[in-house]
Amino acid sequence: MRINKYIAKSGLCSRRKAEELIINNEVSVNDVLIKELAFKVDEKKDIVKVKGKIISIKEELVYYLLNKPIGYISSAKDERGRKTVIDLLKEVKERIYPIGRLDYDTSGLLLLTNDGDLTYKITHPKHNINKVYEAYVEGIPTKDEIYSFEKGLNIEDYKTSKAKIDIIDIKGKNSVVRITIHEGKNRQVRKMCDKINHPVIKLKRVSIGNIKLNNLKEGKYRPLTNQEIKYLYSL
Ligand code: URA
Repeated sequence: MRINKYIAKSGLCSRRKAEELIINNEVSVNDVLIKELAFKVDEKKDIVKVKGKIISIKEELVYYLLNKPIGYISSAKDERGRKTVIDLLKEVKERIYPIGRLDYDTSGLLLLTNDGDLTYKITHPKHNINKVYEAYVEGIPTKDEIYSFEKGLNIEDYKTSKAKIDIIDIKGKNSVVRITIHEGKNRQVRKMCDKINHPVIKLKRVSIGNIKLNNLKEGKYRPLTNQEIKYLYSL
């Protein structure tokens, strides 16, 4: 979108006035002063400032569920040039971002929105929302290992709170387990599995609270239903 249109859409002033702002060196995009009236901004990625203050277009609030494949980073930009989950939602015009994160090497359910209030609510640790993962792990956890996993493990400088782990399949020497946690520390599931000596080979998130991935294909996304949005707000 042309920069003057963007500024006008933000509600700041008319397109004509926006051009005057550009001529007066008062507009920057990603902290670079804009000289060109026809400059185009990427509404999803660029940070536009007028007189040093960020402006943005008031957008309709949107909510999506993505089945994230392995090999995508859960942020809008990556300094190392890796593919981001936003690349998978190219048709979405709004400036969305993920609610929480999945590791580069984790697949599965990721929620994305442009609703900052909901993001804050869901990612706040006090909300205790269950997150369910399916993990293919080395070996087969014993009863004692399952007990200590569920009771709480000392990891680095914290102790994990109560969790659940069930063996759902055995594949030769290894197993598939379903893990439920309600925290979201960095690489927590992997660290918990390491701690009981069953490192993760593959990890996928299958649900967040009542919201389920079901049979959505990897790399595909869908809008949340009104009911799902209401549910997230009710948490
Ligand atoms: N726990 C992990 O270890 N990785 C994830 O991506 C999510 C939870």
